[in-house]
Amino acid sequence: MSLPVQELLARGVALTDVALERLLPGSEVLPHSIHRAMRHSVFAGGKRLRPLLAMETAVMVAGSEMDGVVELGAALEMIHTYSLIHDDLPALDNDDLRRGKPTCHVAYGEAIAILAGDALQTLAYETLANLRCSAQAAVQIVKEVAVATGTGVGGSLPPGMIGGQVMDVEGEGQKPTAEMVEAIHRAKTGALITVSIVTGGIYAGGSAEQIAHLRAFGERIGLAFQIVDDVLDLTQSSESLGKTAGKDTATDKATWPAVFGIQESCRQADALVKDAFLALDGFGERAENLKSVARYLTERKN
Ligand code: IPE
Ligand code: IPE
Ligand code: MG
Ligand code: MG
Ligand code: MG
Repeated sequence: MSLPVQELLARGVALTDVALERLLPGSEVLPHSIHRAMRHSVFAGGKRLRPLLAMETAVMVAGSEMDGVVELGAALEMIHTYSLIHDDLPALDNDDLRRGKPTCHVAYGEAIAILAGDALQTLAYETLANLRCSAQAAVQIVKEVAVATGTGVGGSLPPGMIGGQVMDVEGEGQKPTAEMVEAIHRAKTGALITVSIVTGGIYAGGSAEQIAHLRAFGERIGLAFQIVDDVLDLTQSSESLGKTAGKDTATDKATWPAVFGIQESCRQADALVKDAFLALDGFGERAENLKSVARYLTERKN
């Protein structure tokens, strides 16, 4: 049964937050500073879109609710939050506002913020190793996540999130081309979104053919997501974003609107989402919830 997107989003946040609360060390656990820093960033808010994508994909593939998939979602959210903590550091984007709160390094200092990011990443892999699926599926999930967040091992795989962050930082101040921005966006953001969908499918026991369709879907909506992030940086206020608006222009980032303009960027993001839906044809009506979450990725205002 398809649900209104606001209901799906609220449920995604609620389920993910319960799992994260269970999995993260409490603020009274020693050493206090790092556990408080991890909790500061994880529980500052956040739309929990990657967990929601993983969970909705699993339900779509399995045809019913999937026990334990929320832990996969929580692990993905830990990795995403680690990436935000590091993205905000003075050496990268140098931001002081995130999810409506002071960034991790502003609140806890740079050393603890770097370590909090590292610790969220290791906790994510511990969580993945404990997933309640077959050992074979768990290993496949660990590998998928590692590749999606890595640098493109030996040049034989496309770069993942960290590779994308490298290209993003090194692209500052250069005149962006379409090819360059596409490579950055697919890697720094698209790869983690894609792997959220792919691993949701693996968790649910999807066939190789289904996983290939999920990957095609994920790659398109992942790219659309970052195009919209770039547009929102130009069109929304810091208050509504919970992060500093206008930051990309101020730091001369390689963004989609810098190449194509705002209107054309929005048009392309919509077109990517429509195209992505074709990859879900084989799932019929069971794809409705996942499609509404994907639609929301381009219609969101923060
Ligand atoms: C922001 O991601 C960072 C990017 C990859 C563009 P989100 O827009 O999903 O941020 P939160 O998790 O809701 O804070
Ligand atoms: C962030 O991209 C990508 C990762 C964190 C991997 P941005 O730098 O555009 O994200 P925001 O705008 O700071 O959230
Ligand atoms: Mg950045
Ligand atoms: Mg940033
Ligand atoms: Mg951005």
